[in-house]
Amino acid sequence: MSTVTAIVDLDIEGPTISRHLYGHFAEHLGRCIYGGFWVGEDSTIPNEGGIRLDVVQALRALNIPNLRWPGGCFADEYHWKDGIGPRDQRPRMVNTHWGDVEENNHFGTHEFMALCELLGTEPYISGNVGSGTVQEMSEWVEYLTRDGDSPMARLRRANGRDEPWRVKFWGIGNETWGCGGNMRAEYSADLARQYATYCRDHGDNKLYRIASGATGDDYKWTRTLMEQINCFGCEATPRTFFQGISVHHYTMSGTWEAKGSATDFDTDDYYRTMASAQRIDRILTGHSTVMDIYDPGRRVGLVLDEWGTWWDVEPGTNPGFLFQQNTLRDALVASTHFDIFHKHAARLYMANIAQTVNVLQAMLLTDGDALCLTPTYHVFEMNKGHQDATSLAVHLRTQDARRRVGDAELDTLSASASIKDGAVLISVSNLDAEEPVEVTLDLRGGAVGEPTARLLTADRLQVHNSPESPEAVVPRPFDGVKPTGQGLVLTLPPHSFVTVQAPVARAH
Ligand code: AHR
Repeated sequence: MSTVTAIVDLDIEGPTISRHLYGHFAEHLGRCIYGGFWVGEDSTIPNEGGIRLDVVQALRALNIPNLRWPGGCFADEYHWKDGIGPRDQRPRMVNTHWGDVEENNHFGTHEFMALCELLGTEPYISGNVGSGTVQEMSEWVEYLTRDGDSPMARLRRANGRDEPWRVKFWGIGNETWGCGGNMRAEYSADLARQYATYCRDHGDNKLYRIASGATGDDYKWTRTLMEQINCFGCEATPRTFFQGISVHHYTMSGTWEAKGSATDFDTDDYYRTMASAQRIDRILTGHSTVMDIYDPGRRVGLVLDEWGTWWDVEPGTNPGFLFQQNTLRDALVASTHFDIFHKHAARLYMANIAQTVNVLQAMLLTDGDALCLTPTYHVFEMNKGHQDATSLAVHLRTQDARRRVGDAELDTLSASASIKDGAVLISVSNLDAEEPVEVTLDLRGGAVGEPTARLLTADRLQVHNSPESPEAVVPRPFDGVKPTGQGLVLTLPPHSFVTVQAPVARAH
């Protein structure tokens, strides 16, 4: 058994962990919207105005801070005016990116805003740069957020909504280097400035404009955007053109051509997956370093608005629907990402897992009227106390909690901590597939009271939940946390995730 000491100074506060690091993403892709969130008012599945209530109820328990919509790649062929007005009169289109299926536009702007209200979450709208116009995007902002009398406010009222909504987060294009228009960074940066100019702050609705950013370690793309952030025409209200820039990173054990099976994998595949997940640390460091050069005052946030595992689709399902199972391995990918996100809290403002229901690394899987919570769901739930908490640095001292993956070393112990409302929350993952690990939490600068802990694990990494077996991977109370002279000690089983919460009396 390996041993690790994790040193945490309870009285040395790091930056706040933005709650938006726990954001979500819902695209018109496969069964995410249709069948996942939306069943229509005539469905026998319990719904409110067409929105599935079992899905809403399950997600409310996660305190979802924001929901990104309508894409992804779909956003750059979506024309929002097709999705308003009487549903039976809405134009149809072909969803060319995802399965080449017909889109009836029954889930549009009003339905999305109703969903956000039911979830108690902030909308994050991703606008169309690839095949849209500046006018179209500008009018969408006006339609949603303008009070008083104006053409778009009148159109909104004619469609049954008097009051403007509040919409802060606005994406200016998506993956403009690829499905969003195959642009060069320079051209994309110019377009982002142009679109940002006409995405107006109406009344006191202040937009947080997110420019379409890099994939993975393309730091040149970030540099090109950052060279363009300063708005010299904005002296009246000094601000940058964009308030955030995005980056995407997906985790897989194989390649884009052969990503690997979601459930049929061996230990080597597993370690390769965890190494791919941990790359996000280097990627965030790289983009933050570039941003620091142009924006040392951190006015612009880094927004990882797509992350998560991407496996080969489940056999027999539409390859364009990206439906995949979700095992304990996916849960550990998520817990590791969160530890890294917390470490980057000073610059990383938002992150959105792809995607919430039935697509890629989902929280929820539906099958007709059945619903099950995935292992990843449980990580989001166990970690939700970190939202808006003050981060605490965790220093790991270990000789042997490592595995070799190809030429690289994988750290098999991952941890992070935060403090909020007089209690510390510590998240610890043992990524070793076979060995338990003893972790000594050396907690300095304060005294901790009675801890409560929960454990997420299973006999095998491949275990997953299904409607027939919904509780194969669920968190259980963990009584293996013992006080020491200065902190706590716990032994984590192989491939497990533990959260420990305890009241704190600080020394200072
Ligand atoms: O999340 C699935 C797709 O991945 C998104 O539509 C796109 O932005 C990315 O390539």
